[in-house]
Amino acid sequence: MRYILILNGPNLNLLGRREPEIYGAETLDTIIAGLRERFASIELRHEQHNGEGSLIDTLHTAGFDPECLGIVFNAGAYTHYSYAIADAIAAVPAPVVEVHMSNVHAREDFRHRSVIAPLCCGTVAGFGADSYRLGVEALLNRY
Ligand code: DQA
Repeated sequence: MRYILILNGPNLNLLGRREPEIYGAETLDTIIAGLRERFASIELRHEQHNGEGSLIDTLHTAGFDPECLGIVFNAGAYTHYSYAIADAIAAVPAPVVEVHMSNVHAREDFRHRSVIAPLCCGTVAGFGADSYRLGVEALLNRY
């Protein structure tokens, strides 16, 4: 069965408790449950890893899986400096949408740069939990 993978990077397991003034009060579990309810006709898989290597392994597995329609990826702070993750995105045929809950361009300078953006098919940032929904919609609209 074809599926979309929602992939979350470091510290996103703390949503709901982590800087709620920036990231809101919703937990990651609630966000994923809401997406599954909304997109009931497609399987949404979800993984969250704090480590760079686990994220890369997951990108390799899903990214070469012909059943995977695409990956909605919040790489957290790795976005800004991980060339290893950028290389993994470049290596796989599945389309990857970069998402951020916060408007990274309105925050500290180091968040203005994304080393993964050129390898992704697009970027959604600044809409809180809705950034994930927009990422899923963007992938579905490609098919
Ligand atoms: C984030 C933005 C990143 O700069 C930050 O390191 C995160 C979350 C976001 O969703 O807004 O961990 O990706």
